Amino acid sequence: MSVEKVEAAGDPKAEEGKVEKGLEGVVALESSISSIIGSTLTYRGIEIDELAEKATFEEVVYLLWFGKLPNRAELADLDSRLRENSELPEPVYQLIKSFPKDIIPMDGLRSAVSVLGHYDPDTAAKPDDSEANLRKAIRMTAAFPIIVTAIERVKNGLEPIKPRKDLSIAGNFVYMLDGVAPDRIAIRAIDTALVLHADHELNASTFSARGTVSTLSDIYSAIVSAIGTLKGPLHGGANEAVMKMLLKIDDVSKAQQWIKDAIAHKEKIMGFGHRVYKNGDPRAKHLRKMSEELGKLKGETRWFEMSAIIDDYVSNEKGLLPNVDFYSASLYYVLGIPIEAFTPVFACSRISGWIAHCFEQYADNRLIRPRAHYNGPINQHYIPIEERV
Ligand code: ACO
Repeated sequence: MSVEKVEAAGDPKAEEGKVEKGLEGVVALESSISSIIGSTLTYRGIEIDELAEKATFEEVVYLLWFGKLPNRAELADLDSRLRENSELPEPVYQLIKSFPKDIIPMDGLRSAVSVLGHYDPDTAAKPDDSEANLRKAIRMTAAFPIIVTAIERVKNGLEPIKPRKDLSIAGNFVYMLDGVAPDRIAIRAIDTALVLHADHELNASTFSARGTVSTLSDIYSAIVSAIGTLKGPLHGGANEAVMKMLLKIDDVSKAQQWIKDAIAHKEKIMGFGHRVYKNGDPRAKHLRKMSEELGKLKGETRWFEMSAIIDDYVSNEKGLLPNVDFYSASLYYVLGIPIEAFTPVFACSRISGWIAHCFEQYADNRLIRPRAHYNGPINQHYIPIEERV
């Protein structure tokens, strides 16, 4: 039987068959949350450079969700609501304790957030109930660092540490990892990293979240979709892959030859390149600076040094520039964050952007349902099983 190609019926664009692979350059929706213009990233119109220097993560959460910077009372209100909700239901702790010891933390986060939804007091609210969604958003944002650090501790045979009410999200993250009162510099570094990762226009995980709520499904389902999407090594998972590469190289003097060989073997270099930024990711320079400073401060400079050598070589030889994941790897490593928790840290920040996009989608919803150009066989027929080869 001949196998022919057929055009998708009914829609002129699908029939035309012009496909932008990976939806590159396709403008799928309108958004007023963050913008990428050239190499400039803004949240609600404020440049990321300014926010990285001046804002706290809690301020950025408010900015993304409500469209403006909070005044003192508004910030205090959000802050206290986050702290009041920084408790996990006991069954979620029990679930985390029941996970296999070799669980991938992003898988654990995905499952724990899904189960958290069952215990949310607003679980029965209508999916697009904006007041209930704000309460759910606060609960999820407060819960993420508790879940991530609990998974990490349980994997290592330790009891989870409950958050302290006097610490910020960044402070509690560091505290809950090892139970030691975090120093100011470590808190500031994590806080700035959270600010830098909070939102990024229509990246893959945000698109997943928006696609989910566009069916009028609930916000927990959207966040679970987004976690699964962030996990991949072409997206948030790249920061872990970068650190594994640095550990493999191990020695500053070997970095240049190692990267030269990797390029010669046409390997993909994790932490480089970007779908949108072709002239550099504006977040990378902040992470580079922090990685260098923290490395010096902690007396562990080799990871930054190796990274800088790789950066120079890949930029000059391939014209590829580091993205947000490249220097966050060496930064998190010197801060003592376990490698497998790097992508979960990203999720603890990006939850704020995912939620802002869910709110925006619910507020002016239309089902997201693109077309595919069919390029399979036509005029096929059912063949009885005994006649099939
Ligand atoms: N190492 C080596 N070559 C690369 C890299 C890289 N990191 N990135 C792109 N290229 C090359 C590709 O091989 C391709 O070359 P070719 O045209 O000769 O085949 C060309 O540059 C275009 O690359 P694509 O993969 O088609 O670009 P795309 O826009 O689809 O992908 C992506 C962007 C996924 C980020 C890519 O650059 C990549 O895989 N980088 C490594 C993974 C990574 O760091 N991901 C994190 C991105 S930031 C984030 O999501 C938070």
